[in-house]
Amino acid sequence: MITTVNLEFLPDQMRAMADAVVARCVEHIATAGAQPSCGDVDAAALCRAMREPAPEHGASLHAMLDHLFRDWVPRSFTTIGPGYLAYIPGGGLFPAALADFITDTTNRFTGIWQAAPALVQLEANALDWLREWMAFPPETRGLFTTGGSMATWNALLCARERHLGAEIRRGVLYTSDQAHHSVLKAAKLAGVMPDRVRAIASDDRFRLRIGPLDEAIAVDRRAGLTPFAVVSSAGTTNTGAVDPLDAIADLCAREHMWHHVDGAYGAFFYLCDEMRGVLRGLPRADSLTLDPHKGMFLPYGTGALLVRDGAALRAAHEASAPYLPAMPHPQDFYDPSQHGPELSRGFPGLRVWLTVKLYGSAAFREAVAEKRALAVDAARRVSALPGIVIDAPPDLSLFAFHLTWPGATLAEEDTATRLLMDKTTSKGRVMVTGCTAHGRYLGRVCVLSFRTHQPEIDALVEDLAASIREIRS
Ligand SMILES: Cc1ncc(COP(=O)(O)O)c(C=O)c1O
Repeated sequence: MITTVNLEFLPDQMRAMADAVVARCVEHIATAGAQPSCGDVDAAALCRAMREPAPEHGASLHAMLDHLFRDWVPRSFTTIGPGYLAYIPGGGLFPAALADFITDTTNRFTGIWQAAPALVQLEANALDWLREWMAFPPETRGLFTTGGSMATWNALLCARERHLGAEIRRGVLYTSDQAHHSVLKAAKLAGVMPDRVRAIASDDRFRLRIGPLDEAIAVDRRAGLTPFAVVSSAGTTNTGAVDPLDAIADLCAREHMWHHVDGAYGAFFYLCDEMRGVLRGLPRADSLTLDPHKGMFLPYGTGALLVRDGAALRAAHEASAPYLPAMPHPQDFYDPSQHGPELSRGFPGLRVWLTVKLYGSAAFREAVAEKRALAVDAARRVSALPGIVIDAPPDLSLFAFHLTWPGATLAEEDTATRLLMDKTTSKGRVMVTGCTAHGRYLGRVCVLSFRTHQPEIDALVEDLAASIREIRS
């Protein structure tokens, strides 16, 4: 006699559980503006105390929700807060959580087209919308990933397959000294070791310099190596710098190299007419990393890749197996597992599809334009504060600066600027972080949360001004 194990909940139980979760989540979002901009993350002792073996028997959902929302979620950067101006914000649009709930409860298999053709079509539609937004050609194919790092990795696989074949060790990849560290990680995952990655020194506006790039390629060719790809940035994480994308596209065409653009932070600004000049050349890229969990304000876990020649993405991932459906399907249907490394996967396209359908494209265009306008306003007002030097005005919606005074040394400026970021964040209304670029510590402000509006910029300027007064006294 086999014992029946029932893991199913009754409909009323499911409703009660979902209601309890939704109530907590909605309360959490509704109070986002009142939460401190950065929770107390000095939590090593708490984390040690949290370690426990897997429980033998189940516990109450309510007790777990209490712990989560009362004790654990608040011990974190308040990434959903309107005052989150640190790193690269996004916010986390609520409808995406509904999409995830549908994804997880229906739990359909979207790895192969035959298993859920209509759902996979929604994902294909969402990718095609991104393609249109970025002005890529119809033969482009894409992939939803868990983030920008994974998108870049897939792009470098395509570049490697296309240009190097089995000769991986000879291949050399070029990027700027301001590139996100995920580029180096992605290269390594794609089999291109750090000694085959050249970080070209950036100019005084933190942009990749064409002359030294050209020279580095020539040097490597003379040494018998195979320059095969350039990764440029459509908005760096440090200072928001946009590399000269058009000139890099020209160079790559001339040198028969792959041009990948890391648009994890900045690509969605291409939606704004006024930003198309700064981002000129973006649609000419061979591949483009997008991060809908930044510039489309979705919750973490949504990156995307576009590859201009869709055949290159398919060639990198195409595979068959005797246990998969034998029926070939028409080539005009998208098949996620033939365009990416995963077979079983969630349904990331639903987040994007549902939010775009709910809000409409115009809402995203307008929201991104608002972030740009807020950043320009913030940079203008911050530059007028005593002792502030702007090192990088906003190319998009991120700017960087440092604090100085007559006779200050670089080390003193670094310490004071670091203190300025910490003091401003500790006031609890906005969270700001810094970075080190060109040997100097820089304060930075990145406006990209959909919840950030004019009042948060006013709070930023007031709290920076108050912190400067405290530091000076
Ligand atoms: C410019 C840039 N590129 C790549 C990444 C990596 O993206 P993800 O964290 O989604 O993997 C980031 C993340 O902040 C970024 O700002």
